[in-house]
Amino acid sequence: PGRYAVFGQPIAHSLSPRIHAAFARQLSIAHDYRPIEASTEEFVGALAAFAESGGVGANVTLPLKQHAARLCLSISETARRADSVNTLVRRGEGWHGESTDGAGLIRDITGRQRLYVRGRRTLLLGAGGAARAVAFALLDAGIGELTIANRTAERADALADAIGQPERVHTRYWTDLGQWGGFDLVVNATSAGHANMSLALPTSLLASRAICYDLSYGKASFGFLAWARSAGAGHALDGLGMLVEQAAEAFEIWHGKRPETDAIYAELRAYLP
Ligand code: ATR
Repeated sequence: PGRYAVFGQPIAHSLSPRIHAAFARQLSIAHDYRPIEASTEEFVGALAAFAESGGVGANVTLPLKQHAARLCLSISETARRADSVNTLVRRGEGWHGESTDGAGLIRDITGRQRLYVRGRRTLLLGAGGAARAVAFALLDAGIGELTIANRTAERADALADAIGQPERVHTRYWTDLGQWGGFDLVVNATSAGHANMSLALPTSLLASRAICYDLSYGKASFGFLAWARSAGAGHALDGLGMLVEQAAEAFEIWHGKRPETDAIYAELRAYLP
């Protein structure tokens, strides 16, 4: 059996090794999966060394997802659109890249949480790599209009241009958000929470029973989720479920079997702050 890994920086606190170990136990599949710390400069060399030592599959996390997309020999349509690769599969002499983040988000909302996204007026906060990876998945899942707001307006415009559905996708200035409301789904794809920074969002954004979803989990999601509750959200969700679901998608790509995710989700939920 080949080796598997997750590359990123920092990687020490990654929950992915624990999730994949649980999947492997559950399905009785030999699955040697380890964290490998690598900066953007080190990544190409670290990945080559990994392949050399029997590496056949890997996950890629911050800040390497875009770099990973660049060094794949082939790439799925989903990963190409997102310009992001979080799952690598060894094929012949090179790597094939996939992006399972978007599918993980949709599966968490519609499967685990049993909520619907279809037709929801959606506000996407942020326009970086994480936002890009989920924007296409949300549109494919049938949300209604998508509004993108980013601190740096040009990046929101660039993402909207890349999506190319001007009748359905709009951008707004972050500083004008107070003038807008009626959103049924608000997805926080900014990294502000990791830096302990407040987004200073107006409480007027939400329609009744809105879903608010933070792509991060643990302490990084606390600020946004506290805002969501104070703004009257029907559901304030962190990204733990998305993390577990994107891992299950990757596991299935590698081993052809889909793990059941409820047990490890519950275990991590009890463990996280
Ligand atoms: P990631 O891969 O996590 O998306 P990124 O590409 O660096 O990382 O993007 C970070 C996102 O968080 C960006 O949308 C960024 O806004 P800018 O494009 O203006 O930098 C957003 N972000 C980070 N800190 C923020 C803050 N304090 N307030 C609002 N947006 C913030």
